[in-house]
Amino acid sequence: MKAQDFISAQDITTEEIQDLYELAKDMKANRNKYIRAREGMSLAMIFEKPSLRTRVTFDVGIQQLGGNGIFLGPNDINLGKRESVFDVAKNLERMVDIIMIRTFAHSICTDMAEFASIPIINGLTDHEHPCQALADFFTMWEVKGDLKGKKLTYVGDGNNVAHSLMLTGARLGVNVSVATPKGYEPDKAVVEKAKKDAERFGAKIVATNDAEDAVANADAVYTDVWASMGQESEAEERKKIFSPYQVNSDLMAKANADAIFLHCLPAHRGEEVTDEVIDSDQSVVFQEAENRLHVQKALMHELLR
Ligand code: CP
Ligand code: NVA
Repeated sequence: MKAQDFISAQDITTEEIQDLYELAKDMKANRNKYIRAREGMSLAMIFEKPSLRTRVTFDVGIQQLGGNGIFLGPNDINLGKRESVFDVAKNLERMVDIIMIRTFAHSICTDMAEFASIPIINGLTDHEHPCQALADFFTMWEVKGDLKGKKLTYVGDGNNVAHSLMLTGARLGVNVSVATPKGYEPDKAVVEKAKKDAERFGAKIVATNDAEDAVANADAVYTDVWASMGQESEAEERKKIFSPYQVNSDLMAKANADAIFLHCLPAHRGEEVTDEVIDSDQSVVFQEAENRLHVQKALMHELLR
């Protein structure tokens, strides 16, 4: 990888994603081959929000490469309050080899990358979740084969996950449609960036308010929670607004018959997705969750060169 950091889905080129996927595939099949690949290297994991998958897959991932992970929760550093982002970066760069950060404002992540001389990985901000999108399209590639010309439809909130899916999909030549209620569309600048990329790679990016129309001919249907971390106070109001955007059997029936169902998890069953869909044969959500481990191992392997 040319970029030192992985902050945005735009920090990685098409060729680099393809190489990363080959490496992740090999890591998944031959775990023992890599057990000393990054021996003695340390990963600091800064979490200002809760996590199951990101925490476990990064920690286990660095261990499986021969390194070690250090968990820093919200009460440990108290980023920006107990200590400035600059000072945290300047300390950690002398102690560890790489940092993963999950935080609120995207600017905290870009600041950290600017201040620290070591690689920074975005483990989710309010704006993007790029490791998630890498794992999602890797999963789609495993199940569906060649991604070029395939279609992924995201239904729900135009949030961090939707942004990274559009940006990554565009680079992989995947047609990505995002259907949201009015007022909850993805960021316009992200849509424009994704559209520009999509043009280069022969794909189409669509942002719409029509979920049924969006899922037509989809090879993958994706959803996420209606209220993200930090938006808990809006949850009740959002339930009413988003209910027509639930991914249920009726909506899945409008996609291709062999479409897969994806969700970054955690899922709020009965809200954005019904049990019937998430527990169906079409659902690959746990394979998708596992793949966080493999693609992030490949990512750390590349950034720690
Ligand atoms: N999908 C995902 O990032 O899960 P966590 O919030 O549990 O890390
Ligand atoms: N959009 C969700 C994703 C969780 C993995 C959130 O930000 O809470």
